[in-house]
Amino acid sequence: MPQLASRMGHAKPSAIMAVAEKAKALKAQGRDIISFSIGVPNFLPGEHVYAAARDALAKDSGQYGSNRGADALLDAFIAHMDRLGLTGYTRKNCATGIGAKHILYNLAEALLDPGDTIAFATPYWTTYVDIADIVGAKTLLLPAPASQNYKITPAQLDGALAQKPKLYLFNNPSNPTGMVYTKDEIAALADVFAKYPDTWIISDDIYNTLTFDGIGYHNIVNARPELRDRMIFVDSLSKTYGMPGWRVGLLAGPEVIAQAITTLNSNHITNLPEIVTAAAVAALSGPQDVPQQKCKEFEAKRDIVLDALAQIPGVHCPRPQGAFYVFPDISCAFGKSHGGKTIANDVDFCSALLEAEGVACVPGSAFGEPSALRISYTCPDVQLKEGLRRIQAFFAALT
Ligand SMILES: Cc1ncc(COP(=O)(O)O)c(C=O)c1O
Repeated sequence: MPQLASRMGHAKPSAIMAVAEKAKALKAQGRDIISFSIGVPNFLPGEHVYAAARDALAKDSGQYGSNRGADALLDAFIAHMDRLGLTGYTRKNCATGIGAKHILYNLAEALLDPGDTIAFATPYWTTYVDIADIVGAKTLLLPAPASQNYKITPAQLDGALAQKPKLYLFNNPSNPTGMVYTKDEIAALADVFAKYPDTWIISDDIYNTLTFDGIGYHNIVNARPELRDRMIFVDSLSKTYGMPGWRVGLLAGPEVIAQAITTLNSNHITNLPEIVTAAAVAALSGPQDVPQQKCKEFEAKRDIVLDALAQIPGVHCPRPQGAFYVFPDISCAFGKSHGGKTIANDVDFCSALLEAEGVACVPGSAFGEPSALRISYTCPDVQLKEGLRRIQAFFAALT
């Protein structure tokens, strides 16, 4: 039988999807399942977004579109970046893709030859490792455990960049930890990046408008404008605008990068669909009340989760200030058992929790941190509180 390409030997289906699938199967058997597993925002965009999509449908040109992205979308993105404080970008600095995942994949294709090194912090978003694997890149991981608030230090970054990785992949606010770097922390990291001119930097900041406690969103180019020549800002409408299924990803960076992505688009996807483009323009340029309201709600939900976790002896959880994830260290449960089942690690924990209490969380090892698990907390408060009550009950029943 003919074989698959060798790169597929590395490719694995997403561990997060595996948990979601198991939860779905249990639900289909009639079990009452509460899912904290998938990172979905659980809200829909404002009516103006649907109105723009309907209008575009009525006016369908029936044509192919721009490989880079429609001018109207690029302009709406540039205006959005201006609001974030990322100024001075033109259409030539920008490109679009089918979600940030596609943009990141394209960037890996564009920047990494087999054997090149990509560096990033642990815990990481699962897909980083998988994309690196598929393009045959080596990974250089910077451990950022709970004891350092899941953030890398300037000294760690210095040590990693001294090894001359081709690419550093930065993520702020973070999936899976929800941690957000302060303005001063970003400035300190920017100083280190400035010392190493041979490394490209991707800033995967797709949760940029979801920050809490007034911490705000900060980018390294604001601290060190000279980094603009090699910093690529990645954004998406999935989480911040409640539009994961619409698949809109965006990037801004040096012209050569935006052009490379445009070239890859011309060979992969050709263009984002017209209707999706119209909806994306409306989301970025229209009223921002829905996303702003949701951000406030997520902040309140974050507090509900932290309060519940604080009541569980032994569970340690750094305080996230963005996105919609909490990433508690649950290693106090390892070595114990639940209903006769031994909990040796995070995977055992999540599997027993799902079976015993019907709560689906993602094991931290999916993100390179086996001491923890990820709770995605966007579900309605009633479900959220019930799920947390069950997690408390699960811990209380450990022997
Ligand atoms: C950090 C991070 N980057 C990128 C993505 C991909 O987002 P999109 O839906 O735009 O592909 C996700 C989705 O979970 C994410 O958490």
